[in-house]
Amino acid sequence: MKVLVTGAAGFIGSTLVDRLLLDGHEVTGVDSFTSYYDPAFKWRNLSNALSHSSFRLIEGDLSAIDLAAVVEGVETIYHLAAQPGVRASWGSEFGEYVSANVLATQRLLESARLATSLRRFVYASSSSVYGEAERYPTMEDDRESPRSPYGATKLAGEHLCSLYAANFGVPAIVLRFFTVYGPRQRPDMAFHRFIRAALDGADVSIYGDGSQIREFTHVDDIVAANLIALTADLRPGTVMNLSGGASASVNDVLAILRDIHGSDIRVRYEPGVAGDVQRTGGSTDRARSMLGWRPAVPLSAGLATEYEWLRAVS
Ligand code: NAD
Ligand code: UGA
Repeated sequence: MKVLVTGAAGFIGSTLVDRLLLDGHEVTGVDSFTSYYDPAFKWRNLSNALSHSSFRLIEGDLSAIDLAAVVEGVETIYHLAAQPGVRASWGSEFGEYVSANVLATQRLLESARLATSLRRFVYASSSSVYGEAERYPTMEDDRESPRSPYGATKLAGEHLCSLYAANFGVPAIVLRFFTVYGPRQRPDMAFHRFIRAALDGADVSIYGDGSQIREFTHVDDIVAANLIALTADLRPGTVMNLSGGASASVNDVLAILRDIHGSDIRVRYEPGVAGDVQRTGGSTDRARSMLGWRPAVPLSAGLATEYEWLRAVS
């Protein structure tokens, strides 16, 4: 199948690209190598794909390049390109979030609308659209109420997908990822920062008292669900949680990490950060019934995969 992956050099995008290539697909990746974190990480993420004859990289910004040419002949689009990061989305940074998460998504949908070969458009959304949720596990039809500017832009992207589906039949579906971790995780994210600090003998910074809970999801589980979504029979406009089954507080994670590391890790508690919610946790009932998917990687085993990866690349 001819597949387009936006954000192909990022944490999740590059992991998905490698799996698609392994499965024999012809993959075009688009990435603008933004400076949100060191682009050298992104080039390293792509080192396997770049040596593969079925992979083509377009280095460019979705909000500027000619997208009609990019989507020509493509059967599936995985739209993962975004300005990520919950806590960094305040103040003057917000323009980057609007450009990458809203404008770029709208441009891509405009070209998707005219692409006759397109069978599926997968939008990588986020648990951040729920904010402090009404209940746990949170269901897809529960009220969205983002707590961060980032979450607001991801929700705007979702709305664009559903309105292009409703008005023009763009075969767009929305997958809401819950805090993803594993090899290649972004250097601004908690597990990466905690493991890095442990390996360097530095202090781990915890924002708030560490009681905040996330449903952490291993990247292999996220990729597995995305692969099933390639061919699954899904109505345009479908929205689905991809949540990891591993509900843990930040303090719980530290305890597991101490076991993996085999020695103490020093912790410094810092003030909580605006935009962070106290808890995320999603129902996987819909993903189970529509995709036959359930998360398979337990938190301790998954954390060990990220620890080993970071130790190896250090
Ligand atoms: P990432 O930053 O590693 O990857 C995103 C990639 O998109 C980057 O390589 C960046 O250079 C590229 N990009 C940004 N703007 C672009 C543009 N205008 N044109 C072309 N390329 C552009 O982030 P990630 O953690 O891999 O996240 C991937 C997707 O998953 C994002 O849409 C994010 O919102 C979503 N998501 C991530 C998580 C998580 O826990 N990592 C959770 C929920 C949702
Ligand atoms: C993550 C991603 O960064 C977002 O792109 C994504 O959209 C979001 O998941 C989601 O699921 O929607 P977040 O949950 O904040 O956001 O993920 P982490 O950066 O791994 O943080 C997890 C928790 O650890 C947060 O409560 C954060 O405050 C805390 N943390 C993070 C620390 O205590 N110290 C740190 O150094 C980093």
